Amino acid sequence: MQFSPADWQRLEALRARFLDADGGTDVPDYWSSARDLELYHASFAQRIGWKWDAVLAELDRRGLLTEPMAVTDLGCGSGIAAERWLARRGAQTLSLTLRDRSARAVEFASARLNGSHPGLVRPEPAADAPRMVLISHVLSELSPSACDELLGAIESADALIWVEPGSRELAMRLVTLRERLRARFTPLAPCPHRGACPLALDAGEFWCHHFAAPPREVFRNAFWSQFSRNLGIDLRSLPYSFLVMQRQPASAAPASDLVRVLGRPREGKGHLRLDVCDAAGVRTENFLVRFDKSRAKELAGEPVRERLYRVSREGERIRALELPECVEGATHIAPQG
Ligand SMILES: C[S@@+](CC[C@H](N)C(=O)[O-])C[C@H]1O[C@@H](n2cnc3c(N)ncnc32)[C@H](O)[C@@H]1O
Repeated sequence: MQFSPADWQRLEALRARFLDADGGTDVPDYWSSARDLELYHASFAQRIGWKWDAVLAELDRRGLLTEPMAVTDLGCGSGIAAERWLARRGAQTLSLTLRDRSARAVEFASARLNGSHPGLVRPEPAADAPRMVLISHVLSELSPSACDELLGAIESADALIWVEPGSRELAMRLVTLRERLRARFTPLAPCPHRGACPLALDAGEFWCHHFAAPPREVFRNAFWSQFSRNLGIDLRSLPYSFLVMQRQPASAAPASDLVRVLGRPREGKGHLRLDVCDAAGVRTENFLVRFDKSRAKELAGEPVRERLYRVSREGERIRALELPECVEGATHIAPQG
């Protein structure tokens, strides 16, 4: 797809809108033409799609939310969340419903996804099917009352996947929503436990964010280098926050030695500084490189998969971080009894 100078200007204007949105008031509809959505879909939405790929790859590895479902994309925009979902879980999708306060966005996303999955897009979710809700990059545009309305729309769902940028502010808002939704839903990810979020009461310097890696070919691609140059965006950095919840998870509770590493590990002399989350809280811990050079290399590099580990300790110190076994929808099933 060719971008004219006017197209780049339009993308810059859209980006300024996104960056200005602070969640205090509703953002007016900004999709002024189908071209806006085309430009957005070819650029910003692809980057959002790579975050969805990271989240969905984790769910695949952990065998979570694999049952057939009727899926609704709320605030669909050009439909990237639904598109990435269908790429992995098309066979288990009974129907796809696209919702947005912009009729133009719904029309655009419906036309594209109807083309790739004829017959799947429907105005209402398939009746009597478990319902999955996808939400992506909407939170900053919602006033408190619009957010309440969105939560109302989620209430009847059986599961939800919510992906937002990894800024501190939005990640904290997602934590607050997690706590509200916990009355009805059980957290499956990113949390390595099912209890209250330790960051909800006192986050201190921490926030729950993660990094996705764009496909390698992006760094050799003329369009993406122009995108990066024109909009001043670092292609390597894809921070995101997310939340996956299910009404009644079929899976066993995660094992108690499961931890999630938040954000980017920081390199020190002979060790990495890790922000580690588990049911007891979030804290910074040292991981000595000599204990496991390949794990340290993996942690210091670009993320290739979710940073979820079974931890073993020697006294107060992390001794090892092992990849969890994923068995039938659980992440390392805790021993019975
Ligand atoms: C930044 S775009 C993200 C679009 C898409 N979800 C994605 O990840 O690319 C935000 C979308 O939310 C929609 N939106 C904003 N407020 C909304 C509301 N109160 N209800 C439904 N959609 C809303 C906008 O029209 C826009 O399409």
